[in-house]
Amino acid sequence: MSRVISSLQELYLHKLQTLVDTERLIALSLPLMIEAASHADLQRAFHVHLQQTEEQERRLEPLLADLGHEFQAADCPSIRGIIEEGQLLMKRVQDPSVRDAALIASAQAVEHHEIAAYGTARAWALQLGLGEHARVLERTLREEEETDRLLTELAERLVNHDAEQRGTDRQLAREAMVGDRTGTATSGLSTGRAPGIGGDLGAGSTGSVGQHFVDGDHSPTGQPMRDYDGR
Ligand SMILES: [Fe+2]
Repeated sequence: MSRVISSLQELYLHKLQTLVDTERLIALSLPLMIEAASHADLQRAFHVHLQQTEEQERRLEPLLADLGHEFQAADCPSIRGIIEEGQLLMKRVQDPSVRDAALIASAQAVEHHEIAAYGTARAWALQLGLGEHARVLERTLREEEETDRLLTELAERLVNHDAEQRGTDRQLAREAMVGDRTGTATSGLSTGRAPGIGGDLGAGSTGSVGQHFVDGDHSPTGQPMRDYDGR
């Protein structure tokens, strides 16, 4: 049975230990995500974040030592669930471009979990008068926010468009095959632009929805789109 938590300091300690678990699990999952990613920019972003994650885990050790505890993890079921969901999705998505979009969604779910957890830990450290702890946690929090922003930028600038385009290409190929079989290849069905047929299914409709989305102010996760200096 789990130990009873009866003070904010104990709650803070537990949060730090779950963050150790979180960083360790993310460090284990990122190599798989690097392997699964097809876009070079996305692979690079995951690679950079893997190095950051290893450093973020190490940063927690002196905080636990300062509280008189060993560098041990406490189980964090929520991050396990988020990672597991991402891995299940990876297996289901065959197309590399669409898989990149799925990978970013999974990675952003992880980042948002970490942003919430580090934000809470930082606030509790401040409340407990642990200013140096708060500074360390703030540094990691900023890195997680920057990673989330980078992923949003990659999704909106490159990955979502490529993923949507793949679906459009496949739809056009399907329509061309139907046209070849029925002898209507020049009727408009093969181009996906025939009113009432291709107009509903082809590049026109899905492309326009996706483009409006990319041009909007928010990502799929609601993260505002901001300038990015590139990496
Ligand atoms: Fe992290």
